[in-house]
Amino acid sequence: MSPGRGKQMAGPRGLAAEDEQGAGDHRPTELTVAVTGPTGTFGSGLVPLLQADDRVTRVVGIARRPFDPAERGWTKMDYRRGDVRDPDSLREAFDGVDVVVHLAFLITGTAGREATRAINVEGTLNVFRAAAAAGASRFVHASSVAAYGFHRDNPVGMTEDWPVRPAARLFYAQEKAELEQRLAEEASAHPDLALFLLRPSLVVGPHSLGGKDLLPGRLAPLGRLLADAANRRLPVPLPVVVADLPLQAVHEDDVGQALMRCVLGSGPPGAYNIAGDGVLSTADVAREYGAIPLPVPGGPARLTARAVSRLPFLPAAAEWVEAASHPAIMDTTKAKEQLGWRPRYSGREALRSMLDRTG
Ligand SMILES: NC(=O)c1ccc[n+]([C@@H]2O[C@H](COP(=O)([O-])OP(=O)(O)OC[C@H]3O[C@@H](n4cnc5c(N)ncnc54)[C@H](OP(=O)(O)O)[C@@H]3O)[C@@H](O)[C@H]2O)c1
Repeated sequence: MSPGRGKQMAGPRGLAAEDEQGAGDHRPTELTVAVTGPTGTFGSGLVPLLQADDRVTRVVGIARRPFDPAERGWTKMDYRRGDVRDPDSLREAFDGVDVVVHLAFLITGTAGREATRAINVEGTLNVFRAAAAAGASRFVHASSVAAYGFHRDNPVGMTEDWPVRPAARLFYAQEKAELEQRLAEEASAHPDLALFLLRPSLVVGPHSLGGKDLLPGRLAPLGRLLADAANRRLPVPLPVVVADLPLQAVHEDDVGQALMRCVLGSGPPGAYNIAGDGVLSTADVAREYGAIPLPVPGGPARLTARAVSRLPFLPAAAEWVEAASHPAIMDTTKAKEQLGWRPRYSGREALRSMLDRTG
């Protein structure tokens, strides 16, 4: 299962593209960019870059919950209230767009399996098809490191050549892997629409919570309050037992930069691993939160995570435990060499920026 590949980009609507440093073709581009899910973590990294870049003249933002883009300084954005499950609203919103960046997704699993799958899988295919019908030139999809699955034979430092394989249980990872395959099939039927797939690690920064609901239905606002309170440094250092597991993280602004490079066609279409430099341990993370880590070997924790993830009747949100059964660590050389992406923050600095709420 590898993503759409091979095709060198034509620029939007026939124009060759420039990269961010202005290399390549110097004809001006006037891009209209549609972003689904602009109010989440990734949107916080990307939209200010779209706003600041003269090559982007108009941005169309699609989400379910109303918001005023101008209040955020996003004056180029025309907000369309919409749902990715509704192909008609997508077709209308995408009229005249050059690039579609698809960020709308449900990550936590609290919305229920049916709604989650309808938004994540059918919604993504609706967005791709609407982008193709609108004559867009680039489709930028936020995949995930989770698409690789949490398999024991996954090497440390996976490159994009390593196969994407569905996880055993975690709905999110299964859907990401399935989508990479289905988007590649769709892309081969639409050769004029270049497919870019980013596979980011855990994304952190001042807007880590983004549009995520950690509790279902009416409890969602309470879940957001609790998550915000919990996601801060401890007032006093407390000892915590942590399993010794590796972890990559990337800052939301650096993800925004990677998305922007795909929007501008700074490299060839295809899949790109995205993570901040350095591999953290769970003990490092505990220390950053102000705790005193008491590390225990990761082996038993991985086995436990694997066993728990196989239990029957596990709620979807609890399936995330599988991610600890074999944490996936990626190599990001390709994004640096082919997209020209340079992360400003290491994984550790990104984590600190989340805890400090600075960007
Ligand atoms: N955050 C991470 O650590 C991470 C890591 C790797 C990959 N990713 C991927 O990156 C993408 C963006 O993640 P994120 O962290 O920015 O997500 P997020 O913070 O949860 O934001 C999701 C966005 O999607 C919108 N949305 C949700 N359902 C929608 C629907 N049915 N129709 C239209 N819009 C909808 C939300 O607004 P409304 O709720 O108002 O509609 C919000 O704007 C996702 O595909 C995610 O899987 C995230």
